[in-house]
Amino acid sequence: MSQALIDQAREVMEGNDRGSYTVPTHGLYPFQWNWDSALSALGFSHFDMNRAWVEVETLMAHQWDDGMVPHIIFHEPDDGYFPGPEVWKTGQVIPTTGITQPAVAGFAVRKLYDRSNDKAVARERLAELLPKVHAWHQWFYRDRDPDGTGLVAIIHPWESGRDNSVDWDEALEAMPIEGVAPFTRRDTTHANPDHRPSDEQYKCYIWLLEHFRGLGWDNAKLHDASPFRLVDPGFNGILIRSCDDVADLAEVLGDTSMASEARTMAVKGRAALESLWNRTLGQYTCYNRAAGHLQSTPTVAGLLAAIADVPHGRADELVRRIALLGQRCGYLVPSHDPADGAFDSLRYWRGPTWLIVNYLIAEGLGRSGQGEMAQRILADSLKLIQKSGFAEYYDPMSGEPCGGGSFTWTAAMVIEILKTKRVPA
Ligand code: DGY
Repeated sequence: MSQALIDQAREVMEGNDRGSYTVPTHGLYPFQWNWDSALSALGFSHFDMNRAWVEVETLMAHQWDDGMVPHIIFHEPDDGYFPGPEVWKTGQVIPTTGITQPAVAGFAVRKLYDRSNDKAVARERLAELLPKVHAWHQWFYRDRDPDGTGLVAIIHPWESGRDNSVDWDEALEAMPIEGVAPFTRRDTTHANPDHRPSDEQYKCYIWLLEHFRGLGWDNAKLHDASPFRLVDPGFNGILIRSCDDVADLAEVLGDTSMASEARTMAVKGRAALESLWNRTLGQYTCYNRAAGHLQSTPTVAGLLAAIADVPHGRADELVRRIALLGQRCGYLVPSHDPADGAFDSLRYWRGPTWLIVNYLIAEGLGRSGQGEMAQRILADSLKLIQKSGFAEYYDPMSGEPCGGGSFTWTAAMVIEILKTKRVPA
């Protein structure tokens, strides 16, 4: 069974392979997406290590001069997607968007290096890539944490990767959205509109884009100028973990100054993460930096923080919280608590279960000695694949497939889980 699943997953990945990068899926997402790519490299690493490195190398080749790594790279024109390069107008030679995404590349590169049999070649590739990944992390703490709190803010919901999460409702509702140029969505022609963000949310997404474009995409200005400044525990957890991985890899390369800078960022970030602990819920929650308060939205962001090697007591509490969610749904880990009124089992990040998130939570819990819950999450992930194929996300109650089909990173996670996590399928 495992080999058959791996073969099917590989076929999905190869179908979305454009040579030096993969598209998340045909139609809905026809370009290279940042965290999709880095996580997809993990899948490639089990059958084509060179291709795995190339995936991350292509992504990092489009890093901006200030260190930011953009969330989409528009390699080829495709009018099936909105908003395309003519809307973003970021002025890059190969067009990109002007915002970023979760910093999983450092985490992925660490896995690629550890898995490479030919360490001499891997070391050469690492020597090229690592300074770029480190510069991205430095950019985060410089431009997205200007007050030096140890936690970075996202300035657009798309940066989180969790576009329409309930985490953003309060901030989006407070935003002025007058004057947005009329536009036509393309996503709802490729996927069921009931599975996608609402039109009101799209207006906010485009308002923010136009606002930042009006400021010339100058990252030194955007944080303070954005009415949307959210500190997401999952996003920060990923960044902290990647800083730790960069520190370890810099030691391998003998670059002691990079190692110590990266370690300092991780240590500071991990300590600051504690300010996001929500005692009432027993998990981390988002901090609305523009409004100045910790939110109580019970989303998966606060569980995803487990990737950051949180203190043992916290990992215990996160496991208790996930077990409770497990009583409320059929397939862990729902992106929103089913007991909350805003839960929607089909709508993108307002309820559905995502394999990449499951993998990252399980990875963190496993490292924190919570192997039993990690295995349960991974077993649920494989049940979803067996029931519903390689979808973008799944209804956590029924296990039905949602969003796009033949999805690259879902397939990559299946290969990664079956090859590394010893979960029976
Ligand atoms: C989309 O277009 O749905 C993306 O999530 C933006 O990154």
